[in-house]
Amino acid sequence: MRILVTGGAGFIGSCFVKTILKERPSYEVFNMDKLTYAGNLENLSEIQPSSKYHFVQADIADFEKAKNVVEKFQLDAIINFAAESHVDRSIQDSSAFIHTNIQGTHSLLELARIYKIKRFVQVSTDEVYGSLEEGGYFTENTSLAPNSPYAASKASADLLVRSYFKTYKLPLLISRCSNNYGPYQYPEKLIPLFIIRALQNQELPLYGDGLYVRDWIHVQDHCLALLAILEKGKEGEVYNVGARCERKNIYIAHKILSLLGRPKTLLRSVQDRLGHDRRYAIDPSKIEKELSWKPKFQLDDDLSSLIEWYKNHEAWWRKLS
Ligand SMILES: NC(=O)c1ccc[n+]([C@@H]2O[C@H](COP(=O)([O-])OP(=O)(O)OC[C@H]3O[C@@H](n4cnc5c(N)ncnc54)[C@H](O)[C@@H]3O)[C@@H](O)[C@H]2O)c1
Repeated sequence: MRILVTGGAGFIGSCFVKTILKERPSYEVFNMDKLTYAGNLENLSEIQPSSKYHFVQADIADFEKAKNVVEKFQLDAIINFAAESHVDRSIQDSSAFIHTNIQGTHSLLELARIYKIKRFVQVSTDEVYGSLEEGGYFTENTSLAPNSPYAASKASADLLVRSYFKTYKLPLLISRCSNNYGPYQYPEKLIPLFIIRALQNQELPLYGDGLYVRDWIHVQDHCLALLAILEKGKEGEVYNVGARCERKNIYIAHKILSLLGRPKTLLRSVQDRLGHDRRYAIDPSKIEKELSWKPKFQLDDDLSSLIEWYKNHEAWWRKLS
């Protein structure tokens, strides 16, 4: 299979590129990335030079450039990771989110239609469902109710994908995953931000009361779920991906401080994010049952080795922060 991976220099996309090259040595991967502030080719430094891996710097919303790639390399499949991914940035200015997450997805869908791409996976997020309070879980049938400009741009892309499936009967699938953690995550996101600040004895900025709940999954588990969706998922379907690991932000902050032997006084409550969603929680039963996927990692067991990774990769994060 010849796969176009968009956003393959980002946190999850780079893990997926490495996963595919390891798990499917016969596949050929074409990584198309604009290299925004979040795209970093060092995330792929472990890849050995190989005739099975190619990199093209391009914007997915640049239809002509993307078209040249799809045409030249006669691709079979597209998996779309490319996105503006940080909620806080979308609150400051959402224009890049509209450009990449909506127009970029539209450009790829047009290419899928014109070039009769055999599989297309849209990598989406549980944030399209909005916020849960105390009880319940997001299922694939939960209504879309995005609350941030980021989530709204991702939900818009999901609706475009749905419309291309219904209208043109294209082989499209959507994954909606919960919060990821792991190596090479850009240090604006909660876990790497807290680890890196705690390592430097700096304050940890905690939004509001710190009782916001996120459902955490290791990036490697997410990537294996995406591989299962790409290869075995049913066209037109949505698959929720999560590891049944709800944790409050304050719990994660305390755990990182404790693992590093730092005092709780480093915690600093800061002004809350506008429109902050209270709780996300994914019901992953569908992908578990239908695609026989199960997560292998659990956050509580992984945090100490993740802290070691950030300790050992100081040169990587120093360049970014
Ligand atoms: N991080 C999470 O916890 C999480 C959870 C669920 C879903 N997702 C989704 O997974 C995908 C990847 O997330 P991530 O955390 O790896 O993001 P990231 O911000 O780390 O990486 C995004 C990548 O996309 C590239 N990119 C941005 N705009 C582009 C454009 N116009 N054309 C080509 N490339 C472009 C960037 O250069 C970067 O390499 C996103 O679609 C995101 O919505 C993320």
